[in-house]
Amino acid sequence: MILVTGGAGFIGANFVLDWLDGVDEGVINVDKLTYAGNLGTLKSLHGDPSHIFVRGDICDRSTLDLLLARHQPRAIVHFAAESHVDRSIHGPSDFVQTNIVGTFTLLEAARFYWNALPADERDAFRFVNVSTDEVFGSLEQSDAPFSETSLYTPNSPFSATKASSDHLVRAWHHTYGLPTLTTHCSNNYGPYQFPEKLIPLMIINALANRQLPVYGDGQHVRDWLYVGDHCSAIRKVLAKGRPGESYNIGGCNEVKNIEVVHMLCDLLDDIRPKRKGSYRDQVTWVTERLGHDRRYAIDARKLGRELGWKPDETFESGLEKTVKWYLEHEQWADETTSDEFQDWLQINCQKRA
Ligand code: NAD
Ligand code: DAU
Repeated sequence: MILVTGGAGFIGANFVLDWLDGVDEGVINVDKLTYAGNLGTLKSLHGDPSHIFVRGDICDRSTLDLLLARHQPRAIVHFAAESHVDRSIHGPSDFVQTNIVGTFTLLEAARFYWNALPADERDAFRFVNVSTDEVFGSLEQSDAPFSETSLYTPNSPFSATKASSDHLVRAWHHTYGLPTLTTHCSNNYGPYQFPEKLIPLMIINALANRQLPVYGDGQHVRDWLYVGDHCSAIRKVLAKGRPGESYNIGGCNEVKNIEVVHMLCDLLDDIRPKRKGSYRDQVTWVTERLGHDRRYAIDARKLGRELGWKPDETFESGLEKTVKWYLEHEQWADETTSDEFQDWLQINCQKRA
């Protein structure tokens, strides 16, 4: 078996669903079910003995020790995190707790478990730390994309806690020999993404005839990757990556925010036209995010060269799939968007009024 943390969130759940679809090996899925975790996403696995879901906190050492001892996983894939930059600016405390203390607790549980394994199982054991490109800070337009050796320059409370988490993982490899691997991925999009993030928020707001809030001048650049391609890259890193190494994951899809929003509006205009006008009419310019990183771009050549990974989706094909998925799963979005989420939208909106 493998143990996955945060497997009820956006990327973790896509990873678990893809894994159980393609591999004959079970998953223990530990997730705290914060506002971002959703068991509805894993509904198709109900009753499947190869998926063991445990509602648990990665800061809780005794739960982790118990699960490792009971299920004896051969690997840990660590997705659990507080992941939204705007929320980290509003209230960083949960980010410090889960992203730093949680990763520390998981590393310690993994180290004690791993130390007690027989030699051949110790050699085969892997700890994959799913990190982000944001730890490298912000690029100017003329800068080369981030490589695995780019300097850590985190700018937001979110990215600072992810950077701390990466440093702990690195040290646990260097000092204790724990076979860790870290991945740095660019912005993901696709099915089951919580609608606080740019792409699903724009789709859901557009359909509800609400404003499409674009921060600042809308010229910020993100390097978009379809979530299924991120999951296939993590599987490659888990199977063939070299312990102690880090691997960048990205799709070579640098797009300005306003262009992303316009592409989404145009797709919706085609697939589900409004009675009058275009979805573009709902675009609203709002106040800048504090400390807003201008540009992210990823150089993923190492992953291609060493592990033979390449993405399947272009940004156009992935975006069309995503828009169609949200149109076909409006109930999932309704169930996901709780009162807490409506409150968050109010808070975020008032700050930018
Ligand atoms: P998400 O916010 O959608 O999901 C996070 C999951 O972690 C949720 O299910 C939540 O319940 C769970 N969780 C939170 N705190 C926990 C705790 N203390 N114990 C156990 N579970 C807890 O996040 P995501 O977008 O799926 O991101 C997953 C990972 O991938 C994160 O580490 C993130 O930094 C990284 N990442 C995300 C992106 C992106 O674009 N979304 C890009 C690169 C890297
Ligand atoms: O780069 C990887 C990171 O991508 C992940 O590590 C993070 O977990 C993930 O949240 C994401 O961070 P971003 O801040 O880039 O994603 P977000 O979807 O929040 O915003 C994308 C861009 O769109 C960013 O420049 C801010 C802008 N934006 C966002 C929202 C929610 C808007 O203009 N309007 C909005 O309403």
